[in-house]
Amino acid sequence: MRAAQTPGAGADGERVFVRLGPPPEEPGQFVVEGAPQSYPPEVAARLEVDAKEIIGRYPSPRSALLPLLHLVQSEDGYVTPAGLEFCGEQLGLTGAEVAAVASFYTMYRRGPTGDYLVGVCTNTLCAVMGGDAIFASLKEHLGIGNDETTADGSITLQHIECNAACDFAPVVMVNWEFFDNQTCASARELVDGVRTGNPPAPTRGAALCKFRQTERILAGFPDSRPDEGQGGAGEATLAGLRIAKEHHMTPPEADRAGDDR
Ligand code: FES
Repeated sequence: MRAAQTPGAGADGERVFVRLGPPPEEPGQFVVEGAPQSYPPEVAARLEVDAKEIIGRYPSPRSALLPLLHLVQSEDGYVTPAGLEFCGEQLGLTGAEVAAVASFYTMYRRGPTGDYLVGVCTNTLCAVMGGDAIFASLKEHLGIGNDETTADGSITLQHIECNAACDFAPVVMVNWEFFDNQTCASARELVDGVRTGNPPAPTRGAALCKFRQTERILAGFPDSRPDEGQGGAGEATLAGLRIAKEHHMTPPEADRAGDDR
């Protein structure tokens, strides 16, 4: 269901309307002019080999839908009608079933994506810590709005919701790699580096690769980027644990008598 309007009562007793549903700027359901409607036989055959490998990892074929959607994104850069159709054919699902899942998760894109998807967290904590200012600064610096791509095809900018990195707010993600504790200046340097082929290393995570390569990794294919121990929890994440240990704090015993929820 799309956006709905529900009447409620304001503080002064007047009726107000609370808008429900997706943000008004969210693109329509996989409707993009010129998007492929089906794959040429040679592309379908190539993708089918990959799809079979992915499906073989699951006891039930339909469980493979999420990685298959990443696979078709690695082909097209977003979820196209051709990708939806391909996923449905491979898994024995209807187009409506595939679209329902693809439209639920924001990682599945509804429009063409640049080589680097730059996501600025504008959820509450990041927003007040500078995320809103960073997003405004990048819009001006890149000359594009939300969910738009630079003319050279290098960057798609979007605001994103909380990425569970609030302890490093404000965060910017590039192709889903974290850049923590950003400022307007560091975010502009980041996108400049990306556009000139010299992206800085993420704060946590492997070196950046292009969006379609990222999507292939997310589909479950090998990640050949060197692992230099750059993952793991950072100091801010571990601070609570450290303090708890210093004060010999332990979690309360679970009350299992009559309540095993
Ligand atoms: S609010 Fe930005 S990561 Fe949680």
